[in-house]
Amino acid sequence: MNFDHIGLLGIGSYVPERVMTNADWSELVDTTDEWIIERTGIRERRYSSDDQTTTDFGEYAGKAALADAGLEAVDIDELIIATDTPEMFFPDSASFIQHRLGMGEIPAYDLAGSGCAGFIQALDVARSRAACGDKKVLVMGIELASKFFDWEDRNTCILFGDGAGAAVVGPVEADAAANHPSILSLKTGTDGSRADILSRIAGGTRMPFSMDVAKKGLHKLTRMDGREIFKEAVKHMCAASTEVMEMAGVSSEEVKLFVPHQANMRIIHSVAKHLGAPEEKVFINVDRYGNTGSASVPIALCEARDMGVVESGDLVLCTAFGAGFHWGAALLRL
Ligand SMILES: CC(C)(COP(=O)(O)OP(=O)(O)OC[C@H]1O[C@@H](n2cnc3c(N)ncnc32)[C@H](O)[C@@H]1OP(=O)(O)O)[C@@H](O)C(=O)NCCC(=O)NCCS
Repeated sequence: MNFDHIGLLGIGSYVPERVMTNADWSELVDTTDEWIIERTGIRERRYSSDDQTTTDFGEYAGKAALADAGLEAVDIDELIIATDTPEMFFPDSASFIQHRLGMGEIPAYDLAGSGCAGFIQALDVARSRAACGDKKVLVMGIELASKFFDWEDRNTCILFGDGAGAAVVGPVEADAAANHPSILSLKTGTDGSRADILSRIAGGTRMPFSMDVAKKGLHKLTRMDGREIFKEAVKHMCAASTEVMEMAGVSSEEVKLFVPHQANMRIIHSVAKHLGAPEEKVFINVDRYGNTGSASVPIALCEARDMGVVESGDLVLCTAFGAGFHWGAALLRL
């Protein structure tokens, strides 16, 4: 299939107003600002208000991406939502967001459970769907982790933040110099043998919700082997990034900006070192937002563009890794 004419038509993002600093966390669990900064690089993160939901975040980020693309909701042919923090168990968040945005009766569905790699996976599907029917696909990564993590578990609670990012993927007008926006190459992968390493174990068929589950708090994020995830994240983000550069015949020197998943400053620095990317070419905002899961890459991409770090025509390499394990990388020309 020819993907040359498929690119990002617009991007948008949303982060909530409520700021939670490391000092705030140190009043709730046994942690310190120093420990969190040294081990993760995170200084603060944003949390939704009590009455905000996945649909609200989808509305804000979706409208921003549509405005950026110069499109209306009714112009969109398909909607894909990557989230592990859905509006409810079923129906999916896409149904609610399709209705809230006032879209037509288009196909709308969630890609759930891919953790922080969800946006790149959704981008992969969106690219194919756009290419096979000249469709405009609105794709989003949305997480309200603060509603799900265990507020008493210092191992996990300090890591995550809430946010949403969106992109409109669709056909672009090719120019003779081939400088038009494009998804030059994209690679995703999964290693299901590691599925238990990062998981919210209760609420599904293996452990249906019960009073016992509620009492033990098992419906929250309960299992995370941080060290193992660290190693695997570096390995797979590096391999996927190298592969997409090779697929497109692009060297790391030609990439204007690397936008890795914002999980941990040390993971980002490790990936950058392996890829030979100098510090100034690696976008970082994990210090301000923490790990926003599937929203992390599109939020970072939007910020980089809005800050003028990248502009139309620049090559940007996005990569992500998450529960599953799932991972992916996409080489974009903006
Ligand atoms: C979680 C992570 C920050 C831990 O950093 P680390 O350097 O690997 O730390 P360790 O696992 O060696 O733990 C060191 C100690 O700090 C403690 N600790 C954990 N969280 C803490 C916190 N918030 N404050 C203070 N101490 C903490 C641990 O209990 C452990 O104590 P012990 O040695 O007495 O058992 C790091 O492994 C990481 O970021 N991994 C990736 C996680 C991730 O990205 N998950 C999302 C998937 S994309």
